[in-house]
Amino acid sequence: MCGIVGYVGKDNAKDVIIDGLKKLEYRGYDSAGIAVVIDKKIQIKKHVGGIENLENLIGDDPLYSHTGIGHTRWATHGAPSDVNAHPHINGDSSVAVVHNGIIENYAELKEELINEHGVVFRSETDTEVIAHLVGLFMKDCDSLEDAVYMATQKMRGAYAIVAVAAKDPDKLVAVRKDAPLIAGLGKGSNFIASDIPALLKYVKEIYLIENGEMVVVTPDSIKIFDENRQEVKREVFHVTWDVDAAEKEGYEHFMLKEIFEQPKGISETLNRRLDENGRIKLDGISLTKDDLDNFSKIYIVACGTAYHAGLVGKAVIEKFAKIPVEVDVASEFRYRDPLVDEKTLFIAISQSGETLDTLAALREAKRKGARVLSVVNVVGSSVARESDDVFYTWAGPEIAVASTKAYTTQLTCMYIIALYMGLARGTITQEFYDQFIKDLQEIPGKLEEYLKKTGEIEALAKILYNKEQVFFIGRGLDSSISYEGSLKLKEISYINSFAIAAGELKHGTIALMEPGTLVLALATQDALYEKMISNIQEIKARGAHVLSVAKEGNQAIEMQSNEVIYIPYCRDEIAPLLSVVPLQLFSYYVAKERGCNIDKPKNLAKSVTVE
Ligand code: AGP
Repeated sequence: MCGIVGYVGKDNAKDVIIDGLKKLEYRGYDSAGIAVVIDKKIQIKKHVGGIENLENLIGDDPLYSHTGIGHTRWATHGAPSDVNAHPHINGDSSVAVVHNGIIENYAELKEELINEHGVVFRSETDTEVIAHLVGLFMKDCDSLEDAVYMATQKMRGAYAIVAVAAKDPDKLVAVRKDAPLIAGLGKGSNFIASDIPALLKYVKEIYLIENGEMVVVTPDSIKIFDENRQEVKREVFHVTWDVDAAEKEGYEHFMLKEIFEQPKGISETLNRRLDENGRIKLDGISLTKDDLDNFSKIYIVACGTAYHAGLVGKAVIEKFAKIPVEVDVASEFRYRDPLVDEKTLFIAISQSGETLDTLAALREAKRKGARVLSVVNVVGSSVARESDDVFYTWAGPEIAVASTKAYTTQLTCMYIIALYMGLARGTITQEFYDQFIKDLQEIPGKLEEYLKKTGEIEALAKILYNKEQVFFIGRGLDSSISYEGSLKLKEISYINSFAIAAGELKHGTIALMEPGTLVLALATQDALYEKMISNIQEIKARGAHVLSVAKEGNQAIEMQSNEVIYIPYCRDEIAPLLSVVPLQLFSYYVAKERGCNIDKPKNLAKSVTVE
């Protein structure tokens, strides 16, 4: 997620802004920049990479000013580069803007600015559109707030923006629409930021800006206006957090924060790809019926959690699009001389986009003639750059080593791709497609509700945290989720956990069942439910302690289980989006009980860039 810092007051704006941006580095970013107003002119410095690159670019230049804005960018439109970094300025450098979010109608606004006003664009970003719009309106407006207001009336999307103008130099104007923004109350200085850590060093009194509000900040005043431009009075919020707590927005660990961000991630990844008629926009990726009919096979290749997402991808792509899919771990794929040619579609899944095993497998597939589509979370990463097409998960930066929101947004991409392919090939009906999209769109709300009552999982973890071996079992899609649940538990609690297809138990593994052996049994697949109950009975007969995961409304399973965790009712194919969450939470609370380093588990890295 991008980071925003704005300052106006008695100190040197550059120093305050750079300091504030450094406090936002934890959010993940790929470029940074600053714009300050000096002698009624705007000076701008920005650079791809870390803030140290920006500081080196600024060098010894004091850039002495009392007004400025700064930004750390997490790329969504346009790869990381100097020119795409924020702030963005209009043609005559009289206005500078920083922005967090996405302007959904930026393409049509850009076209209008080019065709009707002869604007020349420098970058690939949606943000630059805002700078030109504000600059245009500034010509006819007396104040920066009027110009910003006029600009926002033309914009659609989710955004937090802050603007400065050469001809209105002692002022910041900000607008919040679905992206966080706060204002900090200083003495002879005032602040704007995307969240609290950026300002904690300077202020403890802040205004929480509500959706749709505009804030006009000068050295001695902060004024908040509603959507009708009526000034509103706002209670001051006294910050009691320390910096560490503030970075996690009050959550104890990044992993827990990211588990709770999943409804938003799923919603953004899905809904931004649906046009007004509910048809999927595949981000400009051209996969025609002929293309799809030409593929003899699809490979989905990834590592770890991303590989587990691929297992679900296989199931839904084969079911909807009727194209054979093979899923492989990247570290094996390229050493087995895979059968790949021009009739192969190779799908790489990677949160970081830098996993060397996955990158190497992708290169091998390309060498053999495959078309490469990647599902990636980090814009402009190596996997993204080396693919023919990229389909981004919009999970936002994932800080915890254990992948959670990246996984559920990867699943969301699998459903979108499978539906798109099935409809294009005519292997699913429009009616099936429409209903499935509707069912998918209900998931963020269902998950939001579910996440309001996680106390039962924490209580179970407190009872079961000292098990030294834990099994995860399931059938069909529940089997794929079992692998992901097992990986979550082992990587953050260091418990020896093991996942196996429930039907496989009797072929050897059931020999390990002892009285009290903990087994998490996923039983969400209606179509396989009776078989799953048989497997649960097999292990119960050997004394296992069975913690089942089932859909709401299935009371019967309580007879077969020691405890049952219920997920909201949904169709079988979509259950993975919900059933993985109690497993994430169970792993989190078990690891917490065991005093483990949850966000940075031993021996692990967030991105494995070695073989
Ligand atoms: C999952 O929790 C782990 N962090 C790990 O398995 C990870 O999914 C794997 O290393 C792949 O990383 P990537 O998605 O960045 O390629």
